[in-house]
Amino acid sequence: MKRIIITGALGQIGTELTDKLMDLYGVDNVLPTDVHKNTDNKLIADKIEILDVRDFERMDELVSEFQPDTILHMAALLSATCEKDPLLAWDINMNGLVNALEVARIHNLKFFTPSSIGSFGDSTPKKNTPQTTIQRPNTMYGVNKVSGELLCDYYYEKFGVDTRGVRFPGLISHIKEPGGGTTDYAVDIFFEAIKTGSYTCFLEEDTYLDMMYIDDAVDAIIQLMETDPSNLSIRNAFNITAISASPKLFYSEIKKHIPDFKVEYDVDPVRQKIADTWPESIDSSEAKKQWGFEPKYDLEKITKTMLDALKVKLK
Ligand code: SER
Repeated sequence: MKRIIITGALGQIGTELTDKLMDLYGVDNVLPTDVHKNTDNKLIADKIEILDVRDFERMDELVSEFQPDTILHMAALLSATCEKDPLLAWDINMNGLVNALEVARIHNLKFFTPSSIGSFGDSTPKKNTPQTTIQRPNTMYGVNKVSGELLCDYYYEKFGVDTRGVRFPGLISHIKEPGGGTTDYAVDIFFEAIKTGSYTCFLEEDTYLDMMYIDDAVDAIIQLMETDPSNLSIRNAFNITAISASPKLFYSEIKKHIPDFKVEYDVDPVRQKIADTWPESIDSSEAKKQWGFEPKYDLEKITKTMLDALKVKLK
């Protein structure tokens, strides 16, 4: 990668990804785009262009002007939001994706888009979920993610577009809070621990899901994009994960730092139902083998990093 356009640059992943790319590749070699310009990140605010990913002409125009060699397509709605408005989810997640793949095809760009643990469903093996396995999700988000993975394979095989992707687990960050995801509790719990010393969790205490710290997620994207194409046999999305954790596990880890921390449960049936169809832990050995994926943050380190940062941020 030398010159990169990003969609969804102000989203959960996009914000920190854009920041890191500007640092590594130079501010002028990164073009952040999103549907709004609302950010307090000065470097991004100075460069950002408005782009609704459903607008192919605008996307094509920005690419023609900026002349990137890579597109990182991050714009998407998360799982619980997709369930609220499934047709809007289809429109943004699928039409946005096909537009981004089309500009990649026309302008010969390297391409990345994230898939998710949400691409699995009830009939998927729940533990150590293999790279290649049953993917029959029953959520609109999952339907979008599986369709997206298939489209990436199609564009690679049919048109030779250099498509790459990962199946992200729940991502944890103190900079950008997620919105409308099923794994959001794993971020909220840290914010509330610092703000109020207690948290009401919307998932049951023993719901295990894969999680990862945002720095590992951003590094994974860059590492995958910098890998020699001949090393990669998977063009839809690689399983990646750092930890498998439950609300109860986060609670006990946070309690080591904040002994009075309290957690109650008020389960949201919509998000619980989504979580119950997702794996408890996925197997990321192919990512390790093919491009050296190696997360640096375990539960202990994530907890300490989040609490230390939030103590300063929320002071
Ligand atoms: N974090 C996402 C969500 O909960 C999963 O990819 O929707």
